[in-house]
Amino acid sequence: MNTTKPEPTKNYLYLLAGAATIMALALGCSANLDEDAQASEESDTSDTVKRHLLSEFEGSFPENASPKGEVVDFEFAAALEEVKLFPNFKTEVWAYDGQVPGPTLRIRLGQTLRLKFTNALPQPTTIHWHGVRVPHAMDGVPGVTQAPIEPGESFVYKFTPKDPGTYWFHPHFRGAEQLERGLYGALIVEDAKSTPYSRDLVWILDDWRLMEDAQIYDKFVTGGDISHDGRWGNVPTVNGRVHPTIVVKPGERIRLRLINAANARIFRPDFSVFKASGIAYDGMSASRPFDPTGYDLAPGNRLDLDVTIPDALEEDMLQIIDRFTRQSFILATIKIEDTDPISPERFEIPAAARVPVWAKAMDIPVDSKMVLNARRGGNYGIEWLINGLPWTEHESLRLKHRSMHRLQFVNQSYRLHPMHIHGLFFKVIARNGTRVSEPHWRDTVLVYPQETIDVGVVPLDKGKWLTHCHIQEHAEAGMKTLIEVE
Ligand code: C2O
Ligand code: CU
Repeated sequence: MNTTKPEPTKNYLYLLAGAATIMALALGCSANLDEDAQASEESDTSDTVKRHLLSEFEGSFPENASPKGEVVDFEFAAALEEVKLFPNFKTEVWAYDGQVPGPTLRIRLGQTLRLKFTNALPQPTTIHWHGVRVPHAMDGVPGVTQAPIEPGESFVYKFTPKDPGTYWFHPHFRGAEQLERGLYGALIVEDAKSTPYSRDLVWILDDWRLMEDAQIYDKFVTGGDISHDGRWGNVPTVNGRVHPTIVVKPGERIRLRLINAANARIFRPDFSVFKASGIAYDGMSASRPFDPTGYDLAPGNRLDLDVTIPDALEEDMLQIIDRFTRQSFILATIKIEDTDPISPERFEIPAAARVPVWAKAMDIPVDSKMVLNARRGGNYGIEWLINGLPWTEHESLRLKHRSMHRLQFVNQSYRLHPMHIHGLFFKVIARNGTRVSEPHWRDTVLVYPQETIDVGVVPLDKGKWLTHCHIQEHAEAGMKTLIEVE
């Protein structure tokens, strides 16, 4: 062991911020989402069922972008920087545009984003636009959609998003190191028509494995990370700050967009003090508001909340607690200003999206199964596998453009795997064979140990799309494959 370097300490945050935190791995149990117990009719043939499911899907989201001809230009680099995660300590990070998180890019639906990006890091990188249905060449997957951007080089990303919502961007090259060092940012695609929230806030959640000198523990993809649920840090942050206080006014109605940018940690933030409702998940609006209690945010996931700050409360400091692990901890504190309440805006929740119920989706056969497991071997001693093989040894899974498919993730391991598919949205239709009806689409779903999850999908974007576990260390150790939509 290298004795010149301090090891990460568990109670560092406790010492600094006075808030107990955890490094322990604890597996939570699956939230049971609202179930729709609709009996299926056995008599239909699967083709008839497929046609029916497809017609239910029609109009869910557009096949093509509708560019208005307005280009919104951004320009920044990824480079080394020092930031203050805590008061009085500087941490060396890798940052987009000198900040952690990187800049929040906001555009409106129909506008075209153009980013001139420069790599000032000591190693190659790319940017992936998580959840955005981009043209294949803009997806940021090295060796699949583009060559890695070498140090000193630039690359122009340009695309017109097809769907409004909460997205984010991060590297797709050595993600276990590059995300952990601080490379991530939010991309907000606002609806063509805006809703009068008093504020639209983005909270990017992360955790860091820091040493006593507040520097990032720089051994990445360790045996421990690989054989467990990836790299869990000892210091959770919201927008790059440890336990921040957010000041709000009584009566305010806020759209709060949560993004989990951690390498591996699952968050389960408890907003029950505000009776918040969920209005979007993984970007796109839900078909109806839903109770976000118990919703897990796995790496990659987003959750948009509609939060009204009460105007009469005994407490003016309310804590948002994370409850995923056995030992809960404070993510942030909401401080309600002592001012006259502003009267909450009354309006309907924006544009409820079309989300098919797909009550009969389990009646069609599984098109593609992805069995998740591990074996000894590879660069890290353990390889994470999809269908018995690690990354680069697979044949692509094939899906037909514009047709209804049922995919199945079978987790044979005792570890967590938040499975993400690029270039498409899917809907969870069953967990362990029991029908589930979530009122929203997803691009990432957390598959618990030994769990089987079925999802329904109608791919509208052709190309070779990466699918992988979003625990960066698992992906690095092989848990990636391609889905080819043709
Ligand atoms: Cu955010 Cu390939 O992932
Ligand atoms: Cu995994």
